[in-house]
Amino acid sequence: LQTVQHDTGMDRLQEWSEPIVRVQSLSESGATVIPARYVKPPSERPGGDYSSGSGDRPGLRIPVVDLGGLAEGAVGCRAVIRAVSDACREWGFFQVVNHGVNPVLMQQMREVWREFFYLPMEEKQVYANSPKTYEGYGSRLGVEKGAILDWGDYYFLNLLPLSLKNHEKWPLLPNSCRETIEEYGQELMKLCGLLMRVLSLSLGLDVGQLQDAFGGDDVGACVRVNYYPRCPQPDLTLGLSAHSDPGGLTVLLADERVKGLQVRKDGSWVTVQPFPDAFIVNIGDQIQVLSNATYKSVEHRVMVNEAAERVSVAFFYNPKSDLPIGPVRELVTPEHPPLYSPMTFNEYRLYIRKVGPRGKSHVESLKAN
Ligand code: OGA
Ligand code: NI
Repeated sequence: LQTVQHDTGMDRLQEWSEPIVRVQSLSESGATVIPARYVKPPSERPGGDYSSGSGDRPGLRIPVVDLGGLAEGAVGCRAVIRAVSDACREWGFFQVVNHGVNPVLMQQMREVWREFFYLPMEEKQVYANSPKTYEGYGSRLGVEKGAILDWGDYYFLNLLPLSLKNHEKWPLLPNSCRETIEEYGQELMKLCGLLMRVLSLSLGLDVGQLQDAFGGDDVGACVRVNYYPRCPQPDLTLGLSAHSDPGGLTVLLADERVKGLQVRKDGSWVTVQPFPDAFIVNIGDQIQVLSNATYKSVEHRVMVNEAAERVSVAFFYNPKSDLPIGPVRELVTPEHPPLYSPMTFNEYRLYIRKVGPRGKSHVESLKAN
């Protein structure tokens, strides 16, 4: 019975069900129409159906939190914790400035990845990924044959746990690539540790409690570099379909020149205006579950455009993958009964790896009844 329950179909799935097409190749072919595979149904297109509230709402902005306040004594700390609490409750998304990561390193990270995607296709194909682990150079999320695809390529790699970190799956070119990723990974781990302490306090928990619930020092961390090539018909498709992030916490390094990320707010889509040298932080499904929905993971998507490509680097900070994740005891009360049944992140993640980005359908399906 045990094996039947855990047979999700992924174990048998070693390869893609149909040939992989690189979006970058489609873009560079100079075609003026996109293949039907990339055309979204009208309700999902960027312009959307205005009556259903999917039009962009200009004046709205995700909050910006200045982490510098944490060095300014108890008053400064309280202000930061309050700002994070408000941002998580209202948006599930915020930008952080004075986060301690050197902007030179941030720019280096963007540049090495641009260089990677500019390499000749044969060089990149060496790292072509499979749906077994997703590590390497990829062009789709989900394995269903005939699925409508997103207008983007990506590179996925594991940093933690160390047992999953494999330099052979990392690009060898450009030359400084591995060093830059290592250094960036170390800095982002520090930042995520700090954000976890702030989030824990903002939920009214002890400072280390959220980290403990993630498995202490045994957390997972992985990186997804997104490359969204220019698109001749940006109104018909998306770079990344609406989804919430399945993991714990996401820290996004956005393109310094080109916008594209949109966040769902009260049924509408709000375009994020990246603040110079800031990171964009968002709550993933695992924090929604641990916090018993005090904080919710929020849907987001990516638009593409005709004039310019876009690069972004998503850093995912996740719970230890074999730990059952359920609501923490302190956030379960008679008024707030547990909303979710515990599930390990390993099991949880198989869903998105099989069906691709599907809004918030998975975390919704976890509701205990
Ligand atoms: C992601 C993501 C946003 C972006 O990789 O999960 O949401 O702007 N990326 O690329
Ligand atoms: Ni995302």
